[in-house]
Amino acid sequence: MKKPIAIAILSILLLAVSCSQSKEDAAVVSPPVVYASLQEMLPFKFGESVNPNRLRNNTVYSGIAAKECNSITPENAMKFNSLHPAENSYTWTDADYIVNFAQTNGAKRIHGHTLVWFQALPDWVKNNTGDAQVFENIMKTHIQTVVAHFKGKVTSWDVVNEAFNDDGSLRDNIWKQKLGDDYIARAFQYAYEADPNALLFYNDYGQEYAPAKRTAIANMVANLKSRGIRIDGIGLQFHLILSQSETNISNAINWAASTGLLVHISELDISLNKDKAQNFSPTQDLLEQQAAKYGYVVKTYNTAVPKAQKFGITTWNVGDADSWIPSYQGAPDAPLPFDVNYNRKPAYYAIIDAVK
Ligand code: XIL
Repeated sequence: MKKPIAIAILSILLLAVSCSQSKEDAAVVSPPVVYASLQEMLPFKFGESVNPNRLRNNTVYSGIAAKECNSITPENAMKFNSLHPAENSYTWTDADYIVNFAQTNGAKRIHGHTLVWFQALPDWVKNNTGDAQVFENIMKTHIQTVVAHFKGKVTSWDVVNEAFNDDGSLRDNIWKQKLGDDYIARAFQYAYEADPNALLFYNDYGQEYAPAKRTAIANMVANLKSRGIRIDGIGLQFHLILSQSETNISNAINWAASTGLLVHISELDISLNKDKAQNFSPTQDLLEQQAAKYGYVVKTYNTAVPKAQKFGITTWNVGDADSWIPSYQGAPDAPLPFDVNYNRKPAYYAIIDAVK
């Protein structure tokens, strides 16, 4: 073969090889779908409620919380009986531990839960025979002391939790009995005075299936606003069951957005064990249905709530081993985006895919 022909053939061969290589390279470098972490992938804050002992003793748990979320709610450590077990004594250790964890793991936002609730009360309050004056002082002192202790560290508070029944009536709890119907307004006012920079939320469950409760909350918000009493946000707990309808979910989110306040999906979990079977373990099919529902919640929140009102979405604890649902319903379940070994479930990926 003559030299120039050989060179020409060689060049053509080389060109062909380099073309096919660049095609392959292009396939390799096309961006893979990366699920870095929930906090990095979502366009709003992602939160988890946490338990101080698990943070202390389980490094997988604390590692997931550190990596995945940028907002933290203490699950129980800031409740009345945790912080204020006796009239003249406060115990800050666990709550301070959580605050320190949040601050030292990427300056996570801390959402305080909760100042005034009818549950998680210590005996000295539950069994207290004092009159309105005594209870006013209990509520006021508790709010002032707790909010002042965390001032500058806790961004926001669930000031009042679960004050309404599903039919919209005011829950007949110890606060209403002792202080009258207007205790909610005073709780918000005391919290505002203790930290004017804190964002103040009303938090409740059932807003997805109880329209009368939504109306009662809207009326309460309007009442506070008309009196110049500060309220900044609504917490939709969203302890959902798998069969909860998309219409109910979107009605609650749209309604909360329509108040003009911040909207926090504050305690999200989706339970799967509807029959409360004692030998329950989630099938792949159930996990995928759960993923679709998580995706629906996140997509609806992301599209229906204006950016300035998006406070974020918080799941109620980290993984299925940490959930309150099994003890609450007396049967196993798998309601969270991480499984019992802290592996990502289909729900995890659906949450991220929902905002793409
Ligand atoms: C639950 C906790 O998850 C449990 O560990 C505790 O035993 C009871 O309270 N609504 C709320 C939360 O506002 O504070 C509740 O948390 C769940 C329902």
